[in-house]
Amino acid sequence: MLKMNSDLALLAPAKPFSAHLPIQFEGVHLSFGKHSIFSDLNLSIDGTGITAIMGPNGAGKSLILRLLADLIKPNKGCIHFNGLNQVPNEQIGFVFQRPVLLRRSVQDNLLHALAIAGVARGQRPFHADALLELGGMQHLAKSPARKLSGGEQQRLTLLRALAAKPGLLVLDEPSASLDPQATALIENIVLRASQCGVKVIVVTHDQGQASRLADEVIFVHKGRVHAIQATDEFLRTPASREAKAYLAGELLI
Ligand SMILES: Nc1ncnc2c1ncn2[C@@H]1O[C@H](COP(=O)(O)OP(=O)(O)OP(=O)(O)O)[C@@H](O)[C@H]1O
Ligand SMILES: [Mg+2]
Repeated sequence: MLKMNSDLALLAPAKPFSAHLPIQFEGVHLSFGKHSIFSDLNLSIDGTGITAIMGPNGAGKSLILRLLADLIKPNKGCIHFNGLNQVPNEQIGFVFQRPVLLRRSVQDNLLHALAIAGVARGQRPFHADALLELGGMQHLAKSPARKLSGGEQQRLTLLRALAAKPGLLVLDEPSASLDPQATALIENIVLRASQCGVKVIVVTHDQGQASRLADEVIFVHKGRVHAIQATDEFLRTPASREAKAYLAGELLI
């Protein structure tokens, strides 16, 4: 599946990411008004491989990603990485729950992302072509990005994130509401990025996706981490009652 040499040139992080260091949440508190979301959240995310975050709606999964990407600040506590108080912003590629694209062509969206990432002007068209090929989107290069189907938009959003050669790729439900084929295309790109040394954190409700992609699962419920387990183990014998109920499709209150 991996076209190693060309993929490495295209996807390998611009800067080596972590030297296997974990990303650590320490004593994180977050509230909105009187609504406390996290009180003393402590969490260590492996610095390599693919980590899935699972848990019911409203558990705090997206907020964990936002804290990690410094899009919101905790009221108390911090996120440590490699001796820093944040993962450096330029090292993170973020794919949000809903696609965010410019009102331009598919190709121009990629060229713009490459320009922001500091790729030399003369190199950008080659990178953009390689990304289009990676996403199977060459035939859509000139199409307006906002007219693409949901699956195509999500794929382009992922390619845009990868244009910056991030060390950490953060995906919030990248294939929610996509069909199996569109989902497989996204997963294939994510796996290739991971094989090129990109650390991936993906929020998903899809147990199949967790099992296809993730090395470990972090299960969150009501702002608390209930389990961190190797994926196979989590899916077979989840370490908490809440995780078991979630996997069985039971309503969690
Ligand atoms: N800006 C905000 N202001 C107030 N409350 C917020 C804000 N952002 C999130 N919340 C609340 O924090 C809780 C966790 O939200 P979050 O988006 O992290 O959930 P989630 O686990 O990603 O859920 P889903 O699976 O539905 O995407 C929810 O109760 C949500 O309403
Ligand atoms: Mg969410």
